This record gives sequence, structure tokens and C-alpha cells, in this order.
Amino acid sequence: MMRRPEISRRKTDHIKICATKDAESERTNGLEDILLVHRSAPEIDMRDVSTSCSLMGHQLSFPFVIEAITGGTTNAKRINQRLAAAAENLQVAMGVGSQRIALENSALEQSFRIVRETAPDAFLIANIGAPQLAMGYGIKEARKAVEMISANALAIHMNAVQEAVQPEGEVVAKGVVDKIAEIVRQVDVPVIVKETGAGISAEEAKRFKAVGVSGIDVAGVGGTDWAKVESYRNSVGKNPGTRIFYGWGISTAASLVEVTQSTDLTTISSGGIRSGLQIAKSMALGASAAGLAKPLLLPALTSLQAVERTIQTVHQELKMTMFLTGCKNISDLRKTPLVIVGNTYHWLTQRGFDTERYARRN
Ligand SMILES: Cc1cc2nc3c(=O)[nH]c(=O)nc-3n(C[C@H](O)[C@H](O)[C@H](O)COP(=O)(O)O)c2cc1C
Repeated sequence: MMRRPEISRRKTDHIKICATKDAESERTNGLEDILLVHRSAPEIDMRDVSTSCSLMGHQLSFPFVIEAITGGTTNAKRINQRLAAAAENLQVAMGVGSQRIALENSALEQSFRIVRETAPDAFLIANIGAPQLAMGYGIKEARKAVEMISANALAIHMNAVQEAVQPEGEVVAKGVVDKIAEIVRQVDVPVIVKETGAGISAEEAKRFKAVGVSGIDVAGVGGTDWAKVESYRNSVGKNPGTRIFYGWGISTAASLVEVTQSTDLTTISSGGIRSGLQIAKSMALGASAAGLAKPLLLPALTSLQAVERTIQTVHQELKMTMFLTGCKNISDLRKTPLVIVGNTYHWLTQRGFDTERYARRN
């Protein structure tokens, strides 16, 4: 078991590295291979475009999730407060970072509790890690995490890549799916299985659905790369395996198709989402919402206004994309035609997925 000061140091390192270094994947998230069909005569006015939608029964102004980032340190509390204020003001969803640090030291709970205090009406997602489930966490910790922020859903994060490349990593995963099943049965909110940058395959999504999980956050390759993040923490030579796992995993675009074609679970698109256009593409592939983590970090270290500006920019880009594809609302967007090309096409056809169903829509 890792000691608390080490968890705290590690969290501070992650924030510093993600805010100041190039910690993004050298592979793309595949959404450049998703081409929405342009409408030269969209027959709508942009001011009539409505982006409102619902995520797990909760109304959002647009399908946007502030992805899990942090908690547990003084700086993390400030970050969480700003992100929560933006979630409340702009009516978007928000996940908190892993709550392990506060489950192991109740003095640190306030850095998470502040989120619900600041965002009384927002859709909030609690967060615990799969390695902790393998090492003994169960329903007690899951309930505590949910209670801490009066969460509307609980995310269980998968971070095998990060654990594998860390010298102090907790490389344990046996029994995790059974543990998830137990938590699903006993916790009062929907459970979301969430990756952290390596994507989720159809086979895994089906296993999660079989044990009663309600949602998947694909968090695919193409954004924050944890092998890269960890390489900045490990002095060269200490963990020589790190570099070869840069870009390991399934791209966000491929993972989205894998999950949405093989299950009917609520699916969140994340992993390198950097624009409203990419949110639109995700929705057209069947996502229920899309999320950003890294692009919100620097703004959250700066001011509430900076966070809100970032979210408003992608919202505006989403509206522009909907105008250009003649979609007056989110349900139109989910049916808009698109073509899949390039590496994503090759991946999906070799894996046996239907790539043409989207192109034939009209
Ligand atoms: C600084 C930082 C800390 C993160 N901590 C967590 C975490 O504690 N729990 C979690 O599920 N995901 C965590 N993530 C992963 C994100 O929620 C997201 O899945 C991933 O970064 C991909 O999104 P991005 O490319 O927009 O950053 C973290 C991401 C960043 C940048």
C-alpha cells in the first residue's frame, strides 16, 4: 500500500507535469478519420440550434463533462472549486479525481466536498480506482465516495497503463470485475467504468454491461498519455519500459464505435477531445456526452472566467458544427451522416464492426 504523503506528492506532480510539459499522446484520437457530411443548404438558422440534452436523466445545456482531474491537496481544492462553479453556472456535468486520498485521510475530504457545496444542482460523478478494488476496497468505500459529494453517479477508473509504468505502481487487477458487480448491486447511483487514456474494447464493454454497469467513459488514446506523464516523474533508466508504452491502447474514435455498437450503455467520449467539432463527431458516433480534462487544467489554475471561456468556446464550436450539418438538436446530431476513413476505418473493419451504417443515414 502506498503511503499518504506519497499519494499527495504524486498528485501534485501530475498537476505540475500536465500543466507545464508535453504530456499528450503522440498518436491522435482518431476523430480526424470521422468526416461529418456537410450541408451546403442546412435549412436552419444557427440561433435556432438547441444543444440541450440529458445525461443519465439529468438535464445539461450541452453534452459536456468536465472529466476527473483532482482532489486531496490545497491546490486541488482550488481547482475543484473553480471547475464546480463552472459546472453549476454553465449546466454541464463534472467528475472529481480519484477520492482514494480522502478515503484514507478524512482531513482531506473538504477538497472534494467543496464541489457539491459549489455546485448544488450539477450532475457530479464520484471516482474510485480499479487497483484499490483489487486491493480490498468494496461497497463501504464506494458509498463513502458517493456520499462525500452527493454524487449522481460513480466512476470506477481503469488505469492499468499508468500503474504498469510506475516504479511504485499497483499492478493488481484480479477480481476487479466481480468487485464492480458487487458495487453495482449495492450502491444507489449508476456506475460508470472509465478509462484514463487507453480506451475500452467491445469485449470489455460487454463484460461491464453483463455485471450491470450503466455507463462507459472510453477515455481513449489521443489525449493525456499516462506513460508519458509518468516518464517525467521517473528519472531516466529507473523505469526503462515507460517510453515503449507511449500511445498504448485504443483510440477514442475506435473505442466509441466498439462500445456503442456492442452495448446500449450510456457512453461518454473522452481522450484528446479538444473542440466542439470533436464533441459533435462523438455524438454522431453514438456518445451521450463528451469530456475534457487536460485543456481545463491551466484555466482552472488561473480563474473561473478562464474555465468558463474554455467551455463556452467548445459549446460555440458544437453549435457551428450543428449548423453546418443542419442539425437543430442533439437527437438530429446523433443521426447525422458521416464517413469513416483512414486508420480508424482499417481498425474497425478488421475488428468486424459496421462502418457503413453511418454513411447511409439521411
Ligand atoms: C492532471 C490529471 C489528473 C487526472 N486524474 C484522474 C483521476 O484521478 N481519476 C480519473 O478517473 N481520471 C483522471 N484523469 C484522466 C482524465 O479524467 C481523462 O480520462 C484523460 O485525461 C483523458 O482526457 P484528456 O485527453 O482531455 O486529458 C486525470 C487527468 C489529468 C490531466
